[in-house]
This record gives sequence, C-alpha cells and structure tokens, in this order.
Amino acid sequence: MRFILILYLAIVVRAQSFLEAIGAYPQLSNFTSLLTDYPVLASSLLSASATSPQTILVPDNTAFLNYENLTGIPVSAVPTTDLAPVIQYHILSGLLKSHNFAAPQGITIPTSLVGQKYDNRTAGAALSSVGATNGNHDGQVVFIVPKTNDSTTTLLVRQLSSAGAVVQSGLGQQVNLTAIDGTWDGGSFHIVDGFLTLPEVCTETIQTWGLSSLDDSLNRTGLSSTLDHLNNVTCLGPSDQAFLQAGSPDIKANVSTLTNALMFHTIPEPLYSNFLQDGQTFTSLSNGTIRVTLKDGDIFFNDAKVTQANVITNNGLMHVLDRVMSPLEDASATGTTTVGPLTTPVASTVTSSITTTVTATESSSAPSSSNTAQATSAAAALHCLWRWEALAFLVGHVYLL
Ligand SMILES: *[C@@H]1O[C@H](CO)[C@@H](O)[C@H](O)[C@H]1NC(C)=O
Ligand SMILES: *[C@@H]1O[C@H](CO)[C@@H](O)[C@H](O)[C@H]1NC(C)=O
Ligand SMILES: *[C@@H]1O[C@H](CO)[C@@H](O)[C@H](O)[C@H]1NC(C)=O
Ligand SMILES: *[C@@H]1O[C@H](CO)[C@@H](O)[C@H](O)[C@H]1NC(C)=O
Ligand SMILES: *[C@@H]1O[C@H](CO)[C@@H](O)[C@H](O)[C@H]1NC(C)=O
Ligand SMILES: *[C@@H]1O[C@H](CO)[C@@H](O)[C@H](O)[C@H]1NC(C)=O
Ligand SMILES: *[C@@H]1O[C@H](CO)[C@@H](O)[C@H](O)[C@H]1NC(C)=O
Ligand SMILES: *[C@@H]1O[C@H](CO)[C@@H](O)[C@H](O)[C@H]1NC(C)=O
Ligand SMILES: *[C@@H]1O[C@H](CO)[C@@H](O)[C@H](O)[C@H]1NC(C)=O
Repeated sequence: MRFILILYLAIVVRAQSFLEAIGAYPQLSNFTSLLTDYPVLASSLLSASATSPQTILVPDNTAFLNYENLTGIPVSAVPTTDLAPVIQYHILSGLLKSHNFAAPQGITIPTSLVGQKYDNRTAGAALSSVGATNGNHDGQVVFIVPKTNDSTTTLLVRQLSSAGAVVQSGLGQQVNLTAIDGTWDGGSFHIVDGFLTLPEVCTETIQTWGLSSLDDSLNRTGLSSTLDHLNNVTCLGPSDQAFLQAGSPDIKANVSTLTNALMFHTIPEPLYSNFLQDGQTFTSLSNGTIRVTLKDGDIFFNDAKVTQANVITNNGLMHVLDRVMSPLEDASATGTTTVGPLTTPVASTVTSSITTTVTATESSSAPSSSNTAQATSAAAALHCLWRWEALAFLVGHVYLL
C-alpha cells in the first residue's frame, strides 16, 4: 500500500515536471491541456519506464488542428483507452538529442508502445545492439531520418540540412520533427507537427499503400491471415506497376507458383533500412537467398529497388519495391543493367507493349513499324513471364504455412 502510494506520488511529480517543462512553449498548449484534463493519461504514460530516460515527441497545436481536420473529431473527444496507445507511441526509449537525429541513414528507435496488437515483434540483435540506452528494446519502433533538400534518393547518402527530421510511423505516415532538445527530469522532448499513426497489420498497410496486386495475390493464395499473424517480418511489397511489368502473376500464375513467390518476398526478421549493409544476404520464407545492394543512395533487394522504406507494421515492416524480385541467380546473370534507374529496357518495352496493343486493336491499319514494336514487346513480355516461372522453379516446392 505504502509502496503504491510512493510510486503514485513519484509519477505525479514526474508528470508535473514534464508539464512544467512543456508549459514554456506556447505552441504546445493543446498537449498541456490534454494532459491536465486527463491526469490518468499523464500518469500512465509517464510511468511507462520510470527507471530509464525517455524522449517525448510532443505534438504541437498544428498537430491537434491536423488531427481534427483529418478525422473530424477533436483529440480531446477521443476516448482515453484509444488515446493511451497513441501517446505511448510518442515516448521514445533513451535520451535522444538533436545530434541523434542527424545520422544520414536514419535511426530506428523503440517506443513505449507494446502489446501484440501494435507490436508483434521483438527487437532482434541489430536493434538491441544500438540506440536506446538501457531502455526497452522491444517496444514498437519509429524510424527517424534527417530532412533533406533532395527528395530523389531513398534513404542513404542524404545531404544533411538544417530542416529537421521526419518521423515515420504506422502505415508509412510521416510527421515533421523539430529537435529542440527540451529537458525534463525524465529525459528530453522535441516537437512534432502531427500525431504518429499506430501500426496496423500487413494487409491493411498494403491496402493503404494501394498495392492492390499484392493484396489480390495474398487473397488468392489465402495467405493474408498468415502474414498478419506472423511475428518479426519484413514484407517486400512490389508495386502494381511491378506486377504488371512481371507479366501480371497476380492474375496469371497458379496458386502454388504465387504462394512461392509471396514467400520469396517475405523475410522472417525485421530489417530496418539503417541496419542494412551492402552485400548482406538473408533467407526468405521460401528459403530463397536475398541480397542487399546499396548503391548511390538507393537500396536494392536482389534486382528490385526500394521506393519506400520502413513502412512500420505491427509485426515488423514493409519496404515497397519497384519490381517483383528475381531469384539471386537470375538477378546476377542480368548483372549491372538491372541495378540501375527505374527505366530499364525491360520496363520501357513492357509499357510500350501495353500502349501498342491498345493502338493495334483500335486501328487495323496500323503502320508496319508497330508490328515490329509488338513483336519486340511480346518477346519482352515472354521474358518477364519466363523470369516469373524461373523464380517459382528456383525457390523450390510449395511450403504450406
Ligand atoms: C489549442 O490551442 C488554441 C490556442 O492556443 C485554442 O484556441 C484551441 O481551442 C486549442 N485546441 C484544443 C483542441 O485544445
Ligand atoms: C483542412 O483540410 C482542408 C482540405 O481537406 C484544407 O483546405 C484546410 O486548409 C485544412 N485546414 C487546416 C487548418 O489544416
Ligand atoms: C523474432 O521472434 C522470435 C520469437 O518468436 C525471437 O526468438 C527472435 O529473436 C525475434 N527476433 C528476430 C530478429 O528474429
Ligand atoms: C537546403 O535548402 C535550404 C533553403 O532552401 C538551404 O538553406 C540549405 O543550405 C540547403 N541544404 C543543403 C544541404 O543543400
Ligand atoms: C512536413 O513539412 C512539409 C514541408 O517540409 C509539409 O509539406 C508537410 O505538410 C508537413 N507535414 C505535416 C504532417 O505537417
Ligand atoms: C482482399 O480481401 C479483403 C478481405 O476480404 C478485401 O477487403 C480486399 O478488397 C481484397 N483485395 C482485393 C485486391 O481484392
Ligand atoms: C503474434 O504472433 C504470434 C506468433 O506468430 C501469433 O500466434 C499471434 O496470433 C500474433 N498476434 C497478433 C495479434 O497478430
Ligand atoms: C503451376 O504452374 C507452374 C508453372 O507454370 C507449373 O510448373 C505447375 O505444375 C503448376 N501447378 C499446378 C498445381 O497446376
Ligand atoms: C526451408 O528450410 C528449412 C530448414 O532447412 C525447412 O525446415 C523448411 O521446410 C524449408 N522451407 C521451404 C519452403 O523449403
């Protein structure tokens, strides 16, 4: 009883200290009111880890406006049971100052958000070895990367700018972080201009990203629920354009081929981009080998380029790819031409193939040059289909999860 009382008092003191600290910032008045109006929320969130330092990302008044504008309800009207996990996601493990957010390759930071619904993963060796000082390594993570003027590179080799950083959370949603190095007796705090988004299961994340070919493939193979209930996964998600470029296996491949391919695109451990190294290899669920290439600021898994990295899911993360991955043997056979800009010869021929076919059906008197184009593109399409079949062949037999 006495212990509980002491603990309670300790928490209240901490909460007061935090409120006092952020009270000095007028742009944080909405958050201050929120915690003052809901002391239960304040005490529960600030007791999350009373023994190790914490870094709090405090949503500013713009964040409150944005939230209401987006959802139609003010933050203050959200039930505290729904608000609690959101707030927990804003509490980062460890004492983080502005210099921690300047790493060009970004950092993955665990938070106080735990429980299978939002965090069905464990830290793993890479995450445990870095970052959070003495903190909880198992809480769901956010990915923070410095802002740059150059939006063309994916993640690496960024030029640092003084613009602050971007925090990536669930569903790949981003908010802007202004590092102010505020301090309170439990650690530090910084300002964000939006509320972080709670991570969802893979399929919901895939749907939100509009990856309908991938979604459709998961539905056809009945793998949606399996994927959502795995823990520790990296889902490599090809875009719709990538499926098209590969000859639409989502529609054309049979279920066993498609199952293999999907498992080839799933790695049973969370691979946050800042831990990736050039030449690293991983084994997919289908036991295929996947090699990481870091080149000119871009990340490749085999021959596929990452177009959006670190989309956090409850059970790990997703990297969006610009193409369906070829097996390593096939990928290395095509060599340097596959590791390059988006517009490879194959991609452009397939695109032109679609255009040519449409033109040809519309007009029977197509010029002879388009016949040549059609023949070339048919060959390219066949080539893509072949790659897809080769993939299925190489990754081995069907494995029922
Ligand atoms: C946020 O603060 C502004 C003024 O600082 C106030 O007008 C507004 O009502 C507050 N909104 C909420 C949701 O508390
Ligand atoms: C709210 O959203 C609308 C459009 O969705 C936009 O025009 C308006 O500027 C937004 N307001 C604020 C305060 O962000
Ligand atoms: C993944 O989860 C298992 C438990 O299911 C755990 O043993 C393992 O360490 C976790 N982390 C990684 C990176 O695999
Ligand atoms: C980024 O742009 C800002 C102004 O637009 C400029 O002051 C800054 O020097 C730029 N940073 C880099 C690294 O180019
Ligand atoms: C983050 O900053 C960019 C400009 O750098 C802005 O376009 C974007 O709306 C901001 N995001 C949020 C969530 O306010
Ligand atoms: C996949 O199945 C889910 C659930 O039945 C459904 O909501 C979704 O629209 C389906 N996706 C596609 C691409 O048909
Ligand atoms: C978390 O992962 C475990 C192991 O894969 C699974 O049994 C469980 O259903 C998952 N939980 C949720 C909420 O998805
Ligand atoms: C699925 O397609 C592959 C490749 O075309 C073929 O080898 C395999 O026999 C087919 N499986 C079934 C069950 O039809
Ligand atoms: C992958 O290898 C492991 C261990 O060798 C084996 O248990 C599993 O069945 C294999 N999976 C597939 C899809 O071949």
